Amino acid sequence: MKISIVLGTRPEIIKFSPIIRECERHNLGYFILHTGQHYTYSMDRIFFEQLELPDARYNLDVGSGSHAEQTGKMLMGIEKTLIEETPEVVLVEGDTNTVLAGALAAVKLHIKVGHVEAGLRSYDWGMPEEINRVLTDRCSDLLFAPTEKSRRILLGEGIPEQKIFVTGNTIVDAVYRNLDISKRKARALDYLGLSPKEYFLVTVHRQENVDNSERFRGILKGLEMIEERFRLPVIYPIHPRAKRQMEAFGMKAGRLRLIEPLDYLSFLQLEANAQLVLTDSGGVQEETCVLGVPCVTLRYNTERPETLDVGSNVLAGTDPGEIVEKTQHMLSKKKSWVNPLGDGRAGERIAQILRGSLG
Ligand code: UD1
Ligand code: UDP
Repeated sequence: MKISIVLGTRPEIIKFSPIIRECERHNLGYFILHTGQHYTYSMDRIFFEQLELPDARYNLDVGSGSHAEQTGKMLMGIEKTLIEETPEVVLVEGDTNTVLAGALAAVKLHIKVGHVEAGLRSYDWGMPEEINRVLTDRCSDLLFAPTEKSRRILLGEGIPEQKIFVTGNTIVDAVYRNLDISKRKARALDYLGLSPKEYFLVTVHRQENVDNSERFRGILKGLEMIEERFRLPVIYPIHPRAKRQMEAFGMKAGRLRLIEPLDYLSFLQLEANAQLVLTDSGGVQEETCVLGVPCVTLRYNTERPETLDVGSNVLAGTDPGEIVEKTQHMLSKKKSWVNPLGDGRAGERIAQILRGSLG
């Protein structure tokens, strides 16, 4: 069996780690093809080191660019590699440009595509991620849906039942595995001088938020109002895209505490101990739900409605007043819910399905 794992960004490295571990455990033949979409040490290499993942056999070093430029370069590099390596299946995870390029290159070469995290929908065609998700699912032969809800979405779009497998989300596996390690090893609370439950944690990086000055300004204003209202530090490990946009718009951080992007164990420690998290990240909406920490999502929709259903998450959009109100609301609510995203064995299930379907 030969599996090509195509990845390129921070969340893909984290969410593929449980599958890579299972491939190692069962001695499945696989190799990692890194597109190089993320390349800064703190967005890429640090996760390979910390999660003890093997090096990519190929790195296409595609880097940043417009959507077409980035996706086009990836397509060319992935196609060339797949022709040389002739894997039986290409695995992609999530909704980035790397995912679409991996799926499209493979399907045109008649190589099976396995999509991890299939069936998520925001129904917002303005998001590049939604386009990537829908097209990737359409190209896929094995659709690993994290929940029953995502399975039903795929069925509703006419995807044949036998192609869909409900596995849970591999982020649950990653959190379960790394939380204890983080408790033992991470020092982020200490070096930032923070006490458990006495700060807010923020991540904001989505194109539709940070490339839009009005929305980004609204979010930053809302975060400053939270700092003033609750008199607690607001910690924002800033994604390079958001940093670039803040500089381009001439925006100031004000009272927010901007820090560099964190390694996974440090980020998990800050997330698990935060009073509440504000984010537009997909993975962070999921992790807070698993960790039992309330989340306010700085978007108008989410492809993770399970988190809204159980009450771990609420949509606030980008209006400052609404962000403060939703934060207050989440703080006053009970913080007990059952994680609907999986039992921590998604990686194991996916490896088993691959063994069964590829022989
Ligand atoms: C990408 C994904 C997004 C995902 C995010 C995870 C797409 C369309 N978007 O967004 O869905 O949530 O990754 O973090 O695939 N940059 C660096 N160093 C890096 C990477 C990026 O400085 O290692 C900067 C560059 O200025 C670059 C910008 O960030 O232009 C955006 O990078 P890009 O890969 O285009 O998209 P992300 O915003 O990271
Ligand atoms: N993350 C991290 N360090 C940070 C911010 C996030 O390790 O400073 C992790 C986080 O725990 C989650 C993942 O990155 O697992 C989410 O990635 P991101 O928000 O970049 O992308 P998205 O999930 O929105 O696609």
